[in-house]
Amino acid sequence: MRSKIVAGNWKMNTTLSQGVELATAVVEGLKNVDLGNNKVVFGAPFVSLSEVAKVTNGVNNVHASAQNMSQHNAGAYTGEVSAEMLNAVGVDMAIIGHSERREYFGETNALLAEKVSQAIENNITAIYCCGEVLAERKNNTFKQVIEQQVSEGLFHLNATDLAKVVIAYEPVWAIGTGETASPEQAQEVHAFIRNLVANKYGNEVAQNLSILYGGSMKPANAAELMAMEDIDGGLVGGASLKADMFLDIIKAM
Ligand code: PGA
Repeated sequence: MRSKIVAGNWKMNTTLSQGVELATAVVEGLKNVDLGNNKVVFGAPFVSLSEVAKVTNGVNNVHASAQNMSQHNAGAYTGEVSAEMLNAVGVDMAIIGHSERREYFGETNALLAEKVSQAIENNITAIYCCGEVLAERKNNTFKQVIEQQVSEGLFHLNATDLAKVVIAYEPVWAIGTGETASPEQAQEVHAFIRNLVANKYGNEVAQNLSILYGGSMKPANAAELMAMEDIDGGLVGGASLKADMFLDIIKAM
Protein backbone atom coordinates (compact mmCIF):
# COMPACT_ATOMS: atom_id res chain seq x y z
CA MET A 1 0.00 0.00 0.00
CA ARG A 2 1.38 3.39 -0.98
CA SER A 3 1.73 5.92 1.82
CA LYS A 4 -0.20 9.13 2.09
CA ILE A 5 1.76 12.32 2.64
CA VAL A 6 0.77 15.78 3.79
CA ALA A 7 3.60 18.18 2.99
CA GLY A 8 3.64 21.83 3.99
CA ASN A 9 5.27 24.25 1.57
CA TRP A 10 6.04 27.31 3.66
CA LYS A 11 7.45 29.16 0.63
CA MET A 12 9.21 32.43 1.56
CA ASN A 13 7.41 32.67 4.89
CA THR A 14 8.54 32.15 8.50
CA THR A 15 11.71 33.38 10.15
CA LEU A 16 13.90 30.85 11.96
CA SER A 17 12.06 31.22 15.26
CA GLN A 18 8.63 31.18 13.61
CA GLY A 19 9.52 28.06 11.65
CA VAL A 20 10.78 26.20 14.70
CA GLU A 21 7.69 27.24 16.63
CA LEU A 22 5.40 26.05 13.82
CA ALA A 23 7.14 22.69 13.40
CA THR A 24 7.22 22.17 17.17
CA ALA A 25 3.50 22.93 17.52
CA VAL A 26 2.60 20.47 14.76
CA VAL A 27 4.85 17.72 16.18
CA GLU A 28 3.28 18.34 19.59
CA GLY A 29 -0.20 18.05 18.05
CA LEU A 30 0.77 14.79 16.36
CA LYS A 31 1.36 13.07 19.70
CA ASN A 32 -2.23 11.82 19.71
CA VAL A 33 -2.33 11.02 15.99
CA ASP A 34 -1.50 7.56 14.65
CA LEU A 35 0.21 8.27 11.35
CA GLY A 36 0.63 4.58 10.57
CA ASN A 37 2.40 4.40 7.24
CA ASN A 38 1.65 8.04 6.38
CA LYS A 39 4.07 10.95 6.41
CA VAL A 40 4.12 14.60 7.39
CA VAL A 41 6.62 16.99 5.81
CA PHE A 42 7.69 20.58 6.55
CA GLY A 43 9.02 22.41 3.50
CA ALA A 44 10.96 25.14 5.26
CA PRO A 45 13.20 27.93 3.93
CA PHE A 46 16.90 27.02 3.67
CA VAL A 47 18.02 29.10 6.62
CA SER A 48 15.59 27.30 8.94
CA LEU A 49 16.07 23.76 7.68
CA SER A 50 18.77 22.61 10.08
CA GLU A 51 16.73 23.70 13.11
CA VAL A 52 13.45 22.36 11.72
CA ALA A 53 15.23 19.05 11.03
CA LYS A 54 16.25 18.95 14.69
CA VAL A 55 12.55 19.13 15.56
CA THR A 56 11.63 16.33 13.12
CA ASN A 57 14.62 14.00 13.48
CA GLY A 58 13.70 11.08 15.67
CA VAL A 59 9.97 11.69 15.20
CA ASN A 60 8.57 8.78 13.22
CA ASN A 61 7.27 9.65 9.75
CA VAL A 62 7.89 13.38 10.07
CA HIS A 63 10.43 14.96 7.72
CA ALA A 64 12.03 18.31 6.92
CA SER A 65 12.15 19.20 3.23
CA ALA A 66 13.92 21.77 1.11
CA GLN A 67 11.82 23.77 -1.37
CA ASN A 68 14.51 23.58 -4.05
CA MET A 69 18.09 22.38 -4.44
CA SER A 70 20.96 22.64 -6.91
CA GLN A 71 21.51 20.18 -9.71
CA HIS A 72 25.27 20.51 -9.11
CA ASN A 73 27.43 18.71 -6.56
CA ALA A 74 29.46 21.68 -5.33
CA GLY A 75 31.50 24.60 -6.57
CA ALA A 76 31.17 28.09 -8.02
CA TYR A 77 27.37 28.42 -8.03
CA THR A 78 26.74 31.53 -5.96
CA GLY A 79 23.56 31.42 -3.95
CA GLU A 80 22.87 27.72 -4.45
CA VAL A 81 22.44 24.91 -1.92
CA SER A 82 23.60 21.36 -2.63
CA ALA A 83 22.14 17.97 -1.78
CA GLU A 84 25.20 17.23 0.33
CA MET A 85 24.53 20.32 2.43
CA LEU A 86 20.93 19.19 2.94
CA ASN A 87 22.04 15.70 3.93
CA ALA A 88 24.48 17.14 6.41
CA VAL A 89 21.69 18.84 8.36
CA GLY A 90 19.34 15.84 8.32
CA VAL A 91 17.11 16.84 5.41
CA ASP A 92 15.96 13.94 3.24
CA MET A 93 13.32 15.48 0.99
CA ALA A 94 13.17 18.32 -1.54
CA ILE A 95 10.36 19.90 -3.51
CA ILE A 96 11.54 20.04 -7.13
CA GLY A 97 9.94 22.06 -9.90
CA HIS A 98 7.28 23.95 -8.02
CA SER A 99 5.33 26.13 -10.46
CA GLU A 100 6.76 29.26 -8.82
CA ARG A 101 10.28 27.97 -9.56
CA ARG A 102 9.24 27.23 -13.12
CA GLU A 103 7.57 30.61 -13.63
CA TYR A 104 9.78 33.07 -11.71
CA PHE A 105 13.14 31.30 -11.93
CA GLY A 106 12.92 29.85 -15.41
CA GLU A 107 13.25 26.21 -14.34
CA THR A 108 12.66 23.92 -17.31
CA ASN A 109 11.79 20.23 -17.44
CA ALA A 110 15.35 19.49 -18.59
CA LEU A 111 16.87 21.31 -15.61
CA LEU A 112 14.41 19.65 -13.25
CA ALA A 113 15.36 16.23 -14.60
CA GLU A 114 18.93 16.98 -13.48
CA LYS A 115 17.74 18.13 -10.05
CA VAL A 116 15.68 14.97 -9.60
CA SER A 117 18.70 12.81 -10.45
CA GLN A 118 20.87 14.78 -8.08
CA ALA A 119 18.32 14.31 -5.30
CA ILE A 120 18.09 10.56 -5.85
CA GLU A 121 21.87 10.12 -5.97
CA ASN A 122 21.99 11.74 -2.54
CA ASN A 123 19.10 9.77 -1.01
CA ILE A 124 16.81 12.76 -1.03
CA THR A 125 13.18 12.07 -1.91
CA ALA A 126 12.11 14.44 -4.67
CA ILE A 127 8.58 15.80 -4.54
CA TYR A 128 8.32 16.56 -8.26
CA CYS A 129 5.65 19.16 -9.10
CA CYS A 130 3.61 19.44 -12.26
CA GLY A 131 0.45 21.28 -13.23
CA GLU A 132 -1.15 23.41 -15.90
CA VAL A 133 -1.90 27.14 -15.99
CA LEU A 134 -5.45 28.42 -16.42
CA ALA A 135 -5.18 28.97 -20.19
CA GLU A 136 -4.07 25.34 -20.65
CA ARG A 137 -7.00 24.12 -18.57
CA LYS A 138 -9.38 26.26 -20.61
CA ASN A 139 -8.07 25.27 -24.04
CA ASN A 140 -7.99 21.64 -22.95
CA THR A 141 -4.26 21.09 -23.48
CA PHE A 142 -3.63 20.40 -19.78
CA LYS A 143 -3.05 16.67 -20.18
CA GLN A 144 -0.39 17.26 -22.87
CA VAL A 145 1.32 19.80 -20.62
CA ILE A 146 1.32 17.44 -17.67
CA GLU A 147 2.50 14.52 -19.76
CA GLN A 148 5.41 16.61 -20.99
CA GLN A 149 6.32 17.78 -17.48
CA VAL A 150 6.19 14.27 -16.07
CA SER A 151 7.95 12.51 -18.93
CA GLU A 152 10.70 15.11 -19.46
CA GLY A 153 11.32 15.60 -15.74
CA LEU A 154 11.15 11.98 -14.58
CA PHE A 155 11.18 9.39 -17.32
CA HIS A 156 14.97 9.35 -17.65
CA LEU A 157 14.95 7.44 -14.35
CA ASN A 158 15.02 3.67 -14.12
CA ALA A 159 12.17 1.95 -12.29
CA THR A 160 14.09 1.60 -9.02
CA ASP A 161 14.76 5.33 -8.91
CA LEU A 162 11.29 6.37 -10.09
CA ALA A 163 9.95 4.41 -7.12
CA LYS A 164 11.79 6.87 -4.82
CA VAL A 165 9.96 9.91 -6.21
CA VAL A 166 6.73 11.54 -5.06
CA ILE A 167 4.69 13.50 -7.61
CA ALA A 168 2.61 16.55 -6.73
CA TYR A 169 -0.11 17.70 -9.13
CA GLU A 170 -0.69 21.40 -8.59
CA PRO A 171 -2.94 23.19 -11.08
CA VAL A 172 -1.39 26.65 -11.16
CA TRP A 173 -4.81 28.31 -11.28
CA ALA A 174 -5.60 26.80 -7.88
CA ILE A 175 -2.40 27.85 -6.08
CA GLY A 176 -2.94 30.58 -3.51
CA THR A 177 -6.14 31.64 -5.26
CA GLY A 178 -8.68 30.06 -2.95
CA GLU A 179 -9.96 28.21 -5.99
CA THR A 180 -9.53 24.44 -5.67
CA ALA A 181 -9.77 21.79 -8.34
CA SER A 182 -12.87 19.74 -7.61
CA PRO A 183 -12.12 16.26 -6.29
CA GLU A 184 -13.26 14.90 -9.67
CA GLN A 185 -11.03 17.27 -11.67
CA ALA A 186 -8.04 16.39 -9.49
CA GLN A 187 -8.79 12.66 -9.56
CA GLU A 188 -8.94 12.71 -13.36
CA VAL A 189 -5.42 14.15 -13.57
CA HIS A 190 -4.02 11.91 -10.82
CA ALA A 191 -5.33 8.83 -12.60
CA PHE A 192 -3.88 10.18 -15.85
CA ILE A 193 -0.45 10.61 -14.22
CA ARG A 194 -0.57 7.15 -12.65
CA ASN A 195 -1.45 5.72 -16.04
CA LEU A 196 1.53 7.49 -17.68
CA VAL A 197 3.78 5.90 -15.05
CA ALA A 198 2.12 2.50 -15.49
CA ASN A 199 2.68 2.62 -19.25
CA LYS A 200 6.35 3.41 -18.79
CA TYR A 201 7.26 1.44 -15.65
CA GLY A 202 4.48 -1.10 -15.16
CA ASN A 203 1.54 -1.30 -12.88
CA GLU A 204 3.33 -2.17 -9.66
CA VAL A 205 5.55 0.92 -9.75
CA ALA A 206 2.53 3.06 -10.62
CA GLN A 207 0.39 1.64 -7.83
CA ASN A 208 3.12 2.28 -5.24
CA LEU A 209 3.68 5.91 -6.30
CA SER A 210 2.30 8.62 -4.02
CA ILE A 211 0.67 11.46 -6.00
CA LEU A 212 -0.19 14.54 -3.95
CA TYR A 213 -2.66 17.28 -4.81
CA GLY A 214 -1.77 20.93 -4.24
CA GLY A 215 -3.69 24.16 -4.71
CA SER A 216 -5.71 25.80 -1.96
CA MET A 217 -6.01 22.62 0.08
CA LYS A 218 -7.51 23.47 3.46
CA PRO A 219 -9.29 21.68 6.32
CA ALA A 220 -12.68 22.20 4.63
CA ASN A 221 -11.75 20.39 1.38
CA ALA A 222 -8.85 18.10 2.38
CA ALA A 223 -10.91 15.04 3.31
CA GLU A 224 -12.95 14.94 0.10
CA LEU A 225 -9.85 15.45 -2.05
CA MET A 226 -7.82 12.79 -0.25
CA ALA A 227 -10.74 10.35 -0.34
CA MET A 228 -10.33 10.07 -4.11
CA GLU A 229 -8.72 6.84 -5.24
CA ASP A 230 -5.57 8.32 -6.78
CA ILE A 231 -5.04 11.31 -4.46
CA ASP A 232 -2.46 10.28 -1.89
CA GLY A 233 -2.15 13.43 0.16
CA GLY A 234 -1.48 17.11 -0.29
CA LEU A 235 1.17 19.73 -0.90
CA VAL A 236 -0.15 22.57 1.19
CA GLY A 237 0.92 26.22 1.00
CA GLY A 238 -1.11 28.81 2.90
CA ALA A 239 -2.83 26.38 5.25
CA SER A 240 0.48 24.85 6.33
CA LEU A 241 1.49 28.09 8.06
CA LYS A 242 -1.03 27.66 10.88
CA ALA A 243 -0.38 24.64 13.10
CA ASP A 244 -4.05 23.98 13.85
CA MET A 245 -5.10 24.14 10.19
CA PHE A 246 -2.21 21.95 9.09
CA LEU A 247 -3.03 19.42 11.83
CA ASP A 248 -6.63 19.30 10.67
CA ILE A 249 -5.46 18.51 7.14
CA ILE A 250 -3.11 15.81 8.47
CA LYS A 251 -5.99 14.26 10.39
CA ALA A 252 -8.04 14.18 7.17
CA MET A 253 -5.44 11.87 5.53
P1 PGA B 1 -1.59 26.93 -1.61
O1 PGA B 1 -0.16 26.55 -2.22
O2 PGA B 1 -2.00 25.76 -0.73
O3 PGA B 1 -1.36 28.18 -0.84
O4 PGA B 1 -2.53 27.09 -2.77
C1 PGA B 1 0.14 25.24 -2.62
C2 PGA B 1 1.52 25.18 -3.22
O5 PGA B 1 1.89 26.12 -3.95
O6 PGA B 1 2.28 24.23 -2.97
